[in-house]
Amino acid sequence: MAWKGLIEEYRDLLPVTDKTPALSLLEGNTPLFHFPNLSKELGIELYGKFEGLNPTGSFKDRGMVMAVAKAIEEGSGSVICASTGNTSAAAAAYAARAGIRAIIVIPKGKVALGKLAQAVMYGAEIVEIEGNFDQALQLVRKISEKSPITLVNSVNPYRLEGQKTAAFEVCDQLGETPDILAIPVGNAGNISAYWKGFKEYSASKGTALPKMFGFEAEGAAAIVRNKVVEEPETVATAIRIGNPASWDLAVQAREESGGMIGSVTDDEIISAFKLLPRKEGVFAEPGSAASIAGVIQQVKAGKIAEGSKVVAVLTGNGLKDPQTAIDQLTIDPVTLPNDEDAILEYLEKMITS
Ligand code: F0G
Repeated sequence: MAWKGLIEEYRDLLPVTDKTPALSLLEGNTPLFHFPNLSKELGIELYGKFEGLNPTGSFKDRGMVMAVAKAIEEGSGSVICASTGNTSAAAAAYAARAGIRAIIVIPKGKVALGKLAQAVMYGAEIVEIEGNFDQALQLVRKISEKSPITLVNSVNPYRLEGQKTAAFEVCDQLGETPDILAIPVGNAGNISAYWKGFKEYSASKGTALPKMFGFEAEGAAAIVRNKVVEEPETVATAIRIGNPASWDLAVQAREESGGMIGSVTDDEIISAFKLLPRKEGVFAEPGSAASIAGVIQQVKAGKIAEGSKVVAVLTGNGLKDPQTAIDQLTIDPVTLPNDEDAILEYLEKMITS
């Protein structure tokens, strides 16, 4: 049976009514990859839930399809969000599909190129501010209170409702609940949504609960430090957030699951960002690599037992942030004459060395 998208597939587990439009870009149903090479190196069973294969290339499509469908159901003609890039791409795409206006407010100079290109191509109204994500979020929250524009950041409860479906898929695809769910933490909506999803699936299907392991970037580690970070900074612009909106829900997920929230340095993020495509053929963006970086760090620290089944959420596609990839490498192709013999000679030396 062809996949029909989240609203159709999970109708019984979502706040969908007869009046909710059947909006869809066939989001969800993303692959859960087993990572044999990294599993062997780490002594665990490591899997990646690759959310980068959603229609706009990130997990945000799950929440946005619900938020935009409900906005339309409630008669709204425009949506607004603050974003580090992925939320805005998803909002712009679903608004375009639904024929309503999307307004996005982004921190100037801190949104990855691919994400900005998406917002432009999907036809969003783009406002850049001389400020960070947290300030942009504060702005759009106030604006949505004073106007008929619907706020579609994850403080809109329909966002977490849509995003919780990824937890259902993890349980179904793995055939059981993982021991640990490792996930990047920025505004803390996704960790909260997964935990809600695991609890609801447990209640309706009797599945077990995982331990939630969240990872913030060290330069933006508000929850770890238990203190707002006024000027968050990290190479992983997706999670460059110093005052997460779902802070309390994230702490609740950590406490209830017996998990942890830790931080990873930019060096750890970049090293995982490079490792995953080389070892497993999966290219995720830097913010996503925080989950892999966190798993490696916790295995080394002896905090993840040998043989544990770990699912790392790979929240966004690596193609969204080509600049960070290019900055990490020296692209230095060898120049050879346009001559078969010369190229063959070069290759023979290479494969036998
Ligand atoms: N990974 C990626 C690729 C993201 O874009 C985000 C958040 C996160 C992880 C963190 O998820 O905020 O639910 O804790 N991006 C938001 C945005 C803030 O505007 O696109 P979170």
